[in-house]
Amino acid sequence: MNDMTAPALAIDTAATAIDPQQKFCADDWDASRFDVQHWLGRAAWRTLKDTNYGISPGVGVTHRAVHEDKLVNQIYKLDIATFLTAERISYTGIAKLMQHAPDEASQIFLATQVVDESRHYEVFCQRLAQFGVSPEQRDQLMEDMTTKELRAFYDLICEQVDKGDFAAAMMAHNIVLEGMAYPVYRYESAYWSVFDPSLTQLIRGAFADEVHHVRFGEAIISRYTRLGDESRNRMIKLAHEFHQLMTAVFESSIAHYIHLYQLVTDQYMDEVGDIEIFQGRKMRDVSEKDQAYILMEQIQQEHATRMQRIGL
Ligand SMILES: [Fe+2]
Ligand SMILES: [Fe+2]
Repeated sequence: MNDMTAPALAIDTAATAIDPQQKFCADDWDASRFDVQHWLGRAAWRTLKDTNYGISPGVGVTHRAVHEDKLVNQIYKLDIATFLTAERISYTGIAKLMQHAPDEASQIFLATQVVDESRHYEVFCQRLAQFGVSPEQRDQLMEDMTTKELRAFYDLICEQVDKGDFAAAMMAHNIVLEGMAYPVYRYESAYWSVFDPSLTQLIRGAFADEVHHVRFGEAIISRYTRLGDESRNRMIKLAHEFHQLMTAVFESSIAHYIHLYQLVTDQYMDEVGDIEIFQGRKMRDVSEKDQAYILMEQIQQEHATRMQRIGL
């Protein structure tokens, strides 16, 4: 008699002990923070609510210089084209990575990330189109902006995805690439805030998503690094390569941008001088050289902190 009742009781106890959030297989991380329901609350119903392609009605007027001043107009387009190169790497890479994810909870998260990255790509394309840039011209701008250092950086990311090495690819995408975007997006959203509040809103909207992608990257990669197996060694080696490439990318393109920004800033100092380009630092008080130095420092610092947080 006892033998027959015991298993039934055991099942009942187990059934009531199940966390209702545990609907997917996910080892030891909270999948409910990264599911589709969470995505709806975070993006669709909050950041993007009442926007049109990521821009709220009445966000602010675009400065005439963005349309009329040749240099400002050119930098504006090149900037967006550079964002686009990274967003394209992201949505195509993450989509491929879904098939290599270790469990369904990760796959579901990656599906939401693909939507985020595709949306980023779309809104930046839309903004360029509004400035009269055709898809063909946009492709050309993206091509022009991809220096050989940036190409090498992107190639190393794509290589991890093509190998199907989930841990390494995730580190490349959601820790290195997104982590590098942090300080750059922060800088850019401040820089354009007077010239084009719409672009600033687009950048901030993308940034909010990237923060979430990095959180997932940290949660999932920590699981691998804790194992302390061969994948950890591969990631350490890779992190070192990425670090070198990041520095080369910075020197070959970002520092060059800052020089162009400064040319514009000097011309429009009355209007843009009060922008807080870094926390507590106004545009008018930070030289071109200091800007490059601070931004590079921030990139290095963020990278180091993140590596430490995931146990590498
Ligand atoms: Fe993105
Ligand atoms: Fe992202």
